[in-house]
Amino acid sequence: MKRKIIFDCDPGLDDALALLLAVAQRDWDILGVTTIAGNSLIEYTTQNALDLLAYYGRPDIPVAKGSSNPILGRFASGSHVHGSKGIANIELPKAKREIEKLRAHEWIAQTLMASTEKIMIIATGPLTNVGMAISLYPEILDKIEMISLMGGSVHVGNVGAVMEANTKNDPEATHIVFNAGVKIAMFGLNVTYQTVIYPYEMDEIAQLGKFGALAADCLRYHFKNYQDLPYFEGDPSHDSCAVAYLIQPELFTMENLNVVVDLSGSYSRGQTIVDQHRVTGRPLNAWVALASNREGFVALIKDAVQCLNQA
Ligand code: RIB
Ligand code: CA
Repeated sequence: MKRKIIFDCDPGLDDALALLLAVAQRDWDILGVTTIAGNSLIEYTTQNALDLLAYYGRPDIPVAKGSSNPILGRFASGSHVHGSKGIANIELPKAKREIEKLRAHEWIAQTLMASTEKIMIIATGPLTNVGMAISLYPEILDKIEMISLMGGSVHVGNVGAVMEANTKNDPEATHIVFNAGVKIAMFGLNVTYQTVIYPYEMDEIAQLGKFGALAADCLRYHFKNYQDLPYFEGDPSHDSCAVAYLIQPELFTMENLNVVVDLSGSYSRGQTIVDQHRVTGRPLNAWVALASNREGFVALIKDAVQCLNQA
């Protein structure tokens, strides 16, 4: 039986690669892609999702448009990293099809409630859609197999000393998700910063047909944000980690820990606080990725590109 997936994302250069990785899994049934603002405005992230799915040969996958703002306040745009339209200056043919009538959080809830099987949720943007779905329709919790998410960090931040962009963009939604009692696999910056793709590997990927060329473009544009920093020798392809884990869990070292999100700190609102040494006694609510097999991850990306080329 095919594994059922809902993919919530804000494409997004690294979301684009994560989506490629997911679409290449022939034993997955991707029920829908739901979009959220974050890396760009919701209009762009939604159009990018439509265009990417069409490019990957899956224009049949439903797309539901999500929230343009977090539960509280406003999103800080990631356009300085991903370009004003979300995928730098990569030009894809414009997909003309319709999006779903329901808003993303309602679509997620309805899809889960209608399903006789449990569904895996991959979340690679701010958790607004997923948090709203859980908050408004708690009966869906029994239908969620797991949420594999890119967000947060054990220590280091990218939009503040200790805050990661997705969790910082919607701390309330993050709080809802981590307190829902559902199984969570968390891929934070602590592990995505280890799981880099080197420039020579981008060159190898670029040689792998039209999907390799697109993947390499995403990696190269994304890497522009990191290449001048002394501690990055390759591109941290954050979002693909949350997908790769579901394909090959042994690529990651996971530990069951307590994670809370800071909702109030004047310097740390949106920070995920991971009790790595279990000193608080708080409940273990997330499997947190602490290390990865980088080479195995890159091989998985290459396999996915080849798989799409052969389809
Ligand atoms: O902090 C990295 C995350 O922020 C990734 O999901 C990236 O796409 C951006 O949204
Ligand atoms: Ca993302």
